[in-house]
Amino acid sequence: MTGDAPVVARGLHKSFGSLDVLKGVDLAVGRGEVVVVMGPSGSGKTTLIRCLNLLEEPDAGELRICGCTITCDPAARGRKRSRAIQQMRCRTAMVFQQFNLFPHMTALGNVIEGGPVCPQPPQGRGRRARRSAAGARRARREA
Ligand SMILES: Nc1ncnc2c1ncn2[C@@H]1O[C@H](COP(=O)(O)OP(=O)(O)OP(=O)(O)O)[C@@H](O)[C@H]1O
Ligand SMILES: [Mg+2]
Repeated sequence: MTGDAPVVARGLHKSFGSLDVLKGVDLAVGRGEVVVVMGPSGSGKTTLIRCLNLLEEPDAGELRICGCTITCDPAARGRKRSRAIQQMRCRTAMVFQQFNLFPHMTALGNVIEGGPVCPQPPQGRGRRARRSAAGARRARREA
């Protein structure tokens, strides 16, 4: 895949029924680079972003986010794959287009609120907090 760019997509495909939205998208975003995706309404901008953080699973293609690589195959199953998907989600954040924005914040404030790229384990002593902290440690070890 493309050099050491932290965000790389190769040959992404996504269809909804007979509607082919992403038809082999290649993308590489370098560290610190800001990329604007432009296009008419319905051209697939949000679908692309949702595919990058696997809110939508692409039908085909390959994704690499911060060193974690996944080959897209909706039929694939298994623990290793679920863990890779979870790691990838931990390394991405998105701001939704309309709903769930904080009205008292600016656009930039909403984007920043998305959180750090590599989350810190939560503080606390509850079972859930311990489990998430262990998960975060494991993700860092495997990174
Ligand atoms: N979950 C879904 N099920 C079926 N069709 C969908 C789904 N999500 C998106 N689409 C369709 O995929 C196409 C691309 O939608 P998408 O929301 O990615 O476009 P967009 O470029 O972000 O548009 P806009 O500029 O209006 O936000 C549209 O035709 C949309 O109706
Ligand atoms: Mg959109």
